[in-house]
Amino acid sequence: MDIPAGADDRVLIIDFGSQVTQLIARRVRETGVYSEIVPYNKADEAIDRLAPKAIILSGGPASVTGMGTPRAPERVFDLGIPVLGICYGQQTMVAQLGGRVETADEREFGRAEMTAGEQSALFDGIWETGESDQVWMSHGDRVIEIPEGFKVIGTSDNAPFAAIADERRHFYGVQFHPEVVHTLRGAKLLENFTHKIAGCGGNWSMAAFRETEIKRVREQVGKGRVICGLSGGVDSSVVAVLLHEAIGEQLTCVFVDTGMMRMGEAEEVVTLFRDHYNIKLVHVDAQKLFLDKLEGVTDPERKRKIIGATFIDVFDDEAKKVGGADFLAQGTLYPDVIESVSFAGGPSVTIKSHHNVGGLPERMNMKLVEPLRELFKDEVRVLGRDLGLPEPFVGRHPFPGPGLAIRIPGEITGDRLDILRKADKIYLEEIRNAGLYDDIWQAFAVLLPVKTVGVMGDERSYEFVCALRAVTSTDGMTADYYDFSHEFLGRTATRIINEVRGINRVVYDITSKPPGTIEWE
Ligand code: XMP
Repeated sequence: MDIPAGADDRVLIIDFGSQVTQLIARRVRETGVYSEIVPYNKADEAIDRLAPKAIILSGGPASVTGMGTPRAPERVFDLGIPVLGICYGQQTMVAQLGGRVETADEREFGRAEMTAGEQSALFDGIWETGESDQVWMSHGDRVIEIPEGFKVIGTSDNAPFAAIADERRHFYGVQFHPEVVHTLRGAKLLENFTHKIAGCGGNWSMAAFRETEIKRVREQVGKGRVICGLSGGVDSSVVAVLLHEAIGEQLTCVFVDTGMMRMGEAEEVVTLFRDHYNIKLVHVDAQKLFLDKLEGVTDPERKRKIIGATFIDVFDDEAKKVGGADFLAQGTLYPDVIESVSFAGGPSVTIKSHHNVGGLPERMNMKLVEPLRELFKDEVRVLGRDLGLPEPFVGRHPFPGPGLAIRIPGEITGDRLDILRKADKIYLEEIRNAGLYDDIWQAFAVLLPVKTVGVMGDERSYEFVCALRAVTSTDGMTADYYDFSHEFLGRTATRIINEVRGINRVVYDITSKPPGTIEWE
């Protein structure tokens, strides 16, 4: 990866496989400092490439006391730059610098109280000596002897060396996880490390990124032509507007309307991009084709495969019609390209085959333009706002590539899609009216292919069941169901049953992920 535009000061995060390493990078970037994650065994190359101003060693599932477990490259401690070790990172730093780590009898997991000891630059403006505060712990091993030059700056019941510092060399270690929200002042601690200790300037902002990224795209593309698939989601919308600003008429967007979108969404995409932004837009109405291909198909994986393959066919045909394009633009994000450290080994099982435009570049033999490759989703949203995209677009919940097709278990028909669209619209309207939209990661209606008996007026009804789903999440990997009030659920159910012909019963899904998934298929 190149150093992105606007990344004047850089922090390198060396990953030992923690589940929450990405959060470290996000927290650091929130303080206006560019950071990148690399696996511990590729850290050497990254140090040369990035010339970081500071290094953070992440947590990880291994034990420093075990044979052959990962270590930071020795030169990390010879570079003369500040180093912060978190959990496993603290332990390996201690072991590598001459201290000792043991496997503790008592594991410490979850919320813990840390009490600040001697004053330290790391705690400056956060905790005074003797003050206690909530931190988040997750460890089996612990430090029992600190290397020469270090002092203890924080203790907890089960971690006598909960925080340590060598102020002369600017080496710091914490047993807790400052990157998770349950460590209440954790973000401030990371900011102390990057700004006060490492002297980073905080210039990483989306405004600077935008300006320099535009120059970079112009250089890459030259006089060439670029095709961009637009889906109506945040990422592809931001790519399109950014590229339009960079190369204007050299960009053509292709929007394939699969017929699996929410109410009014296809029209919104066309109005916004063609009329408002004046971007060259090919709108392909492929609704009938997709419905024909899906006729009689009930298996979730087959649905996904058919939609993915049909999408690629249609997109490829349209791109050929546009003709002469050398580049394909994609909304690839940083989490898609971070190399992860895996200790589990073995092939992982496919839960769902995700449909994006994966497979397109190979098939089309085009060069890629991926202006969001270095960004997290929340940064893409900030960039979108900076580019003037309307708030409802920028703040939109994620929507899966196969769309409503995976929200109707069983066969997809035009009628079922219409019923679902109406119910979904009412549900989202109620959520927005209640001011809850931004508290929820994703909310949607599901149409079940099950008919139940009801009574409406004096009449017997026999219609479909609608399930409502809403979850909170930070990355879609795990999720909790959203705890609506009964009053909210009752009101929404009544509206759906009254206003949507075809539904006479509404249920609320209270499954978390795991064991459920967010989507039903
Ligand atoms: P699951 O259902 O696996 O979903 O818990 C996790 C997140 O991924 C979204 N999702 C998809 N996104 N193409 C996408 O771009 C897909 O095929 C796809 N399937 C699921 C889902 O909406 C949730 O945000």
